[in-house]
Amino acid sequence: MERILTVRDMQARAEALRREGKRIGFVPTMGYLHEGHLSLIDEAKKHSDIVVVSVFVNPTQFGPHEDLESYPRDIDRDEALAASRGAGLMFYPSVKEMYPGTQQTWVQVEDLTGVLCGASREGHFRGVSTVVTKLFHIVKPHVAVFGQKDAQQAAVIMKMAADLNMDIRILVAPIVREADGLAMSSRNVRLTPENRKKAVILSQSLFGIREGLLKGQPAGALLEEARAAISAVPGAKLEYLELRSYPALEELTELRGTCLAAVAARFGDVRLIDNVMIKI
Ligand code: PAF
Repeated sequence: MERILTVRDMQARAEALRREGKRIGFVPTMGYLHEGHLSLIDEAKKHSDIVVVSVFVNPTQFGPHEDLESYPRDIDRDEALAASRGAGLMFYPSVKEMYPGTQQTWVQVEDLTGVLCGASREGHFRGVSTVVTKLFHIVKPHVAVFGQKDAQQAAVIMKMAADLNMDIRILVAPIVREADGLAMSSRNVRLTPENRKKAVILSQSLFGIREGLLKGQPAGALLEEARAAISAVPGAKLEYLELRSYPALEELTELRGTCLAAVAARFGDVRLIDNVMIKI
């Protein structure tokens, strides 16, 4: 598998692939790949001739007190895993390569980014949409695949691609879960063994809400019950548990169409998110 380190080399390689008539599939990641990422590679393969995986822990999407430094990293392991699933190219730039000077140009998707994770992670989605735009200009993909695990991020990227007329098909692949229901995340390895067990409350709560809504139970009561259950777990700190429309992420006045039940909570210093999509 080819590893490319510079923007110039990646752009030249992408240009050459396009000239050969190859369709480029793209899976942007921050590395420490797990089965969730690998399922995105599988999906990208279905729609392209070659899959490019980027590994870049993007500093502009981390707040000053977030886990940029402790974010897990292991590029050789990532490369082996991506290759085992048939990815053809790994783009692994340094921070200096991606941000050689002061970044003066930002991509900001407005309404979608002030709620859920955006309410507490100021500047997070501006960092995500900016780096994804940069990566799109570097990798030049025909199709890019994102995970539903980051449902708000997927909604932001879809809106950005539509608003800016990006000629890239954006696909969203389902969440991959551990046997007990915990959504796979690179951050899971940072959970203590006790918190790893406790974190299952997030998916349990979301599944309970989905079941209740599909049975016609009132949304308000289901949300309150789930919030209480999460808050009752010693050491768990609930940030939000909300029900919103998808992909507009508006507050729900009535339960109709596709709804998103989304949660964020901290277990020690590890912040986890999860969600379920409910079609009513
Ligand atoms: O989902 C992620 O891993 C990141 O937010 C992304 C899309 C690679 C941008 O840095």
